[in-house]
Amino acid sequence: MPKKMKQIAIYGKGGIGKSTTTSNLSAALSQMGFKVMQFGCDPKSDSTNTLRNGQYIPTVLDTLREKTAVKAHEVIFRGFNGIYCVEAGGPAPGVGCAGRGIITAVELFKQQKVFDELELDYVIYDVLGDVVCGGFAMPIREGIAEHVFTVSSSDFMSVYASNNLFKGIKKYSNSGGALLGGVIANSINAGYSKDIIDDFVSRTKTRVMEYIPRSITVTQSELKGKTTIEAAPESDQAKVYMRLAEKIAAHEVSDTPSPLEVGELQAWAASWSDQLLALESGVVAGGIKSGI
Ligand SMILES: Nc1ncnc2c1ncn2[C@@H]1O[C@H](COP(=O)(O)OP(=O)(O)OP(=O)(O)O)[C@@H](O)[C@H]1O
Ligand SMILES: [Mg+2]
Repeated sequence: MPKKMKQIAIYGKGGIGKSTTTSNLSAALSQMGFKVMQFGCDPKSDSTNTLRNGQYIPTVLDTLREKTAVKAHEVIFRGFNGIYCVEAGGPAPGVGCAGRGIITAVELFKQQKVFDELELDYVIYDVLGDVVCGGFAMPIREGIAEHVFTVSSSDFMSVYASNNLFKGIKKYSNSGGALLGGVIANSINAGYSKDIIDDFVSRTKTRVMEYIPRSITVTQSELKGKTTIEAAPESDQAKVYMRLAEKIAAHEVSDTPSPLEVGELQAWAASWSDQLLALESGVVAGGIKSGI
């Protein structure tokens, strides 16, 4: 019986660390012996750079613009540890739907049976945070990905983007859409940031997959054009990414999150604002478990 390929989509607010986390996850899964494809769905087409020494690769849409018939293998490049790297690309700036790259690229691969032929264990889609556009919702809506994870810090705008993603998942959950695996908490250093994320996941009936600290090792590795798994495999940060990969590999069942309504989210944020203010002024309110 052919092995079952797992398809995972990673969403999150712009600049929150999706590509960094996804690339380290791909690298860690490949170190565990899995065959992985990382599929960049951002028109910036920089998702796979740190798997390829900082180099950009031609995108599926750009290649399709140059020639009418494209063989899937022309847009698949090998990166660190043999990882298959793909960048869907986007339309010319200011024209058309930015999600079209994903749709076109996935169709091309399906038609040419690429996923079967490569016998992949994982395809990881690195998608934009904004699911308002149908194109970006596509990995959820069409059930292309089975499991969705969101990268979020404890910053309100990042939590807000994750909550919006939960709304998107809930909307399509009855019609065979992807379900939520959990939250990858990024840039979690101060104690209160862990408490904020923990509180958010508990209210939305989701879970934290791993807490990833903000680390200079990530910055140093990125400046070398590499993931932390490649550039600093013995570092504490690499161990965190390995732990994340182990948890994602062991993860089987995703479910429907319970997003907060806008008013609930605002009230929730305001209560945290009060608690942080109380902490700063020395009056510790209830609800903060580990302090700053
Ligand atoms: N845990 C971390 N520690 C240190 N730096 C980090 C961490 N996570 C992300 N970064 C840095 O934050 C910056 C943005 O990260 P990244 O490009 O992965 O975000 P993104 O969500 O993919 O952004 P975009 O929405 O623009 O695609 C990068 O310079 C990256 O090195
Ligand atoms: Mg990115």
